[in-house]
Amino acid sequence: ALQASIVPKISPKTSFRNQFQPRASTFKVAILGAAGGIGQPLALLVKMSPLVSALHLYDIANVKGVAADLSHCNTPSQVLDFTGQLELANCLKGVDVVVIPAGVPRKPGMTRDDLFNVNANIVKTLVEAVADNCPDAFILIISNPVNSTVPIAAEVLKQKGVYNPKKLFGVTTLDVVRANTFVAQRKNLRLIDVDVPVVGGHAGITILPLLSKTRPLVTFSQGEVEELTVRIQNAGTEVVEAKAGAGSATLSMAYAAARFLESSLRALDGDGDVYECSYVQSDLTELPFFASRVKLGRKGVEAIISADLEGLTEYESQMLEALKPELKASIEKGVAFVQKKQ
Ligand code: NAI
Repeated sequence: ALQASIVPKISPKTSFRNQFQPRASTFKVAILGAAGGIGQPLALLVKMSPLVSALHLYDIANVKGVAADLSHCNTPSQVLDFTGQLELANCLKGVDVVVIPAGVPRKPGMTRDDLFNVNANIVKTLVEAVADNCPDAFILIISNPVNSTVPIAAEVLKQKGVYNPKKLFGVTTLDVVRANTFVAQRKNLRLIDVDVPVVGGHAGITILPLLSKTRPLVTFSQGEVEELTVRIQNAGTEVVEAKAGAGSATLSMAYAAARFLESSLRALDGDGDVYECSYVQSDLTELPFFASRVKLGRKGVEAIISADLEGLTEYESQMLEALKPELKASIEKGVAFVQKKQ
């Protein structure tokens, strides 16, 4: 019971009781960038999941100790460590879900796009290895700028002839987690009850919380809407500034990634009631990639939920139009990066 209560799974659209039912299957998960600020606490949370049989930890350095440490926890999954490019293929073979938090984080004064040059190469290299070794896995991209790294991953997979848009996810769960927290605080609601869909992308104004679609039904003044929207959009920067050069969000990010991963595993396990927001290939707008709520199933994205974009308030509609040029440019930058290298 302790385990089940700690495993993060708070998507209100899914039923909590599922946590306590016996499982038919367990899964292999790989974390690439596992020795980092996000990688370590994420590995700990994944080690606690009853749905995981094997946890493969990969990094370019320092991962041996992390794996040795974690392997002493008396939970079911076996922990294996893999260091450096030569061990990457073995890390990925037979894996069901790959989570990628590898790359540099922001420092004060930086935008997520400032990370592009370093992280684009890292994501490209790692996804090439995923394509070669576990092309059927769910791929969860955390490395920023997510608005560009997901299109980069898609291009790499296309070049390798194994792109399945239903299985490539940009992890935007932290935006939802933050929106839920801030709205619950503001409105004195029980945190567990609150669900705010967040659409668009994962940087600055491309993060669009749809406060009018908050469940349970809440009403906000226009002032509250604007204040909450700006806080949710800048929450990452709030952490970057508080850490004052020591990195960006790691603990809340690990929590959010563990939630998304747990949802993915439940979907793979056949749970028919799993919904999460994610940045995926999408036909919801004219942009090729867009974050919205999606229904997850055994084969990945089963449906993109269009209802959230219907009946938007005037403010939300304006914000949606305003974010499109920036998101479009970030997508094109990612695509061009891979195509230039050919
Ligand atoms: P960190 O610097 O603490 O850890 C990054 C890890 O990646 C390090 O252990 C490093 O050795 C490893 N790494 C570097 N190159 C690698 C390669 N080629 N292969 C494998 N591993 C490699 O950074 P942190 O704080 O863990 O952040 C990681 C990324 O996550 C950053 O890009 C950050 O911007 C992003 N992020 C994304 C969020 C989201 O909501 N999607 C939220 C917060 C951070």
